[in-house]
Amino acid sequence: MGSWDERSAVWDETVSNSPVFQRLREELIEAANPSSDDRVLDLGAGAGFVALRLAPLVEDVVAVDSSSGMLALLADQADARGLGNVRTLELGMQSLECEPGSFSLVVSHYALHYLNPRDQRDLVQRVFSWLEPGGRVVFVDMMFGRSAGTENRAIAGAKIAQLLRHGPGGLWRVIKNVARLALGFGLYPSSRERWESWLTASGFEAVEGRALWQEAGLVSARRPGVVGAERSTKRPASASQMG
Ligand SMILES: C[S@@+](CC[C@H](N)C(=O)[O-])C[C@H]1O[C@@H](n2cnc3c(N)ncnc32)[C@H](O)[C@@H]1O
Repeated sequence: MGSWDERSAVWDETVSNSPVFQRLREELIEAANPSSDDRVLDLGAGAGFVALRLAPLVEDVVAVDSSSGMLALLADQADARGLGNVRTLELGMQSLECEPGSFSLVVSHYALHYLNPRDQRDLVQRVFSWLEPGGRVVFVDMMFGRSAGTENRAIAGAKIAQLLRHGPGGLWRVIKNVARLALGFGLYPSSRERWESWLTASGFEAVEGRALWQEAGLVSARRPGVVGAERSTKRPASASQMG
């Protein structure tokens, strides 16, 4: 994912200095309700915006991302903060294989819209198997559909207005993003309703979704069962690839 290697420092600075992204992250943390014995998987972890926030609160975090540049920033920051419980794994989420029941919490922040809808749906099913009984999943991402429904129109309008306030650069981003969405090239946001239906169909319970801010939405759910009943010491199969 070369483009993310090039954009890693810019993205890291953008999210770290953005009150909106900080609020979204806190919404994710609150919904995840982390505890000191949680074993966490962060999908599309980037430079660690969420992984590094969670690490001091949990047992350990596996941060998966396809960009080596992003993960290098994450690893540097983990070192600088003395967080020895964060491991990185450079891999496309589509190729990730983990032992059944090896995590108690799976999170993702602003990364799943890079997967096409089929891979998104498959990922939900695979996340179900990677979670121990009682384990939780929390996704925060762009969540809207392409239908002309009122909510989708409002989201698109607010986003376009926000980008246009940045002048010609903003207009260029509007054109680029509309083209990418229209052509289905690289950006595939799915609606909250879609995520909720995939979670329900995969066997999750307590499936909940809500709008957070403009295009940002949150879905959360729990794998049925008693927490810790089948606690496994197994680690992701590809642990040897971890940094
Ligand atoms: C917008 S950034 C978000 C990063 C981080 N979660 C955050 O909140 O700052 C999207 C991230 O998704 C990663 N990504 C995109 N497609 C991916 C894929 N198929 N598998 C793994 N990571 C992917 C990119 O490398 C990038 O780090």
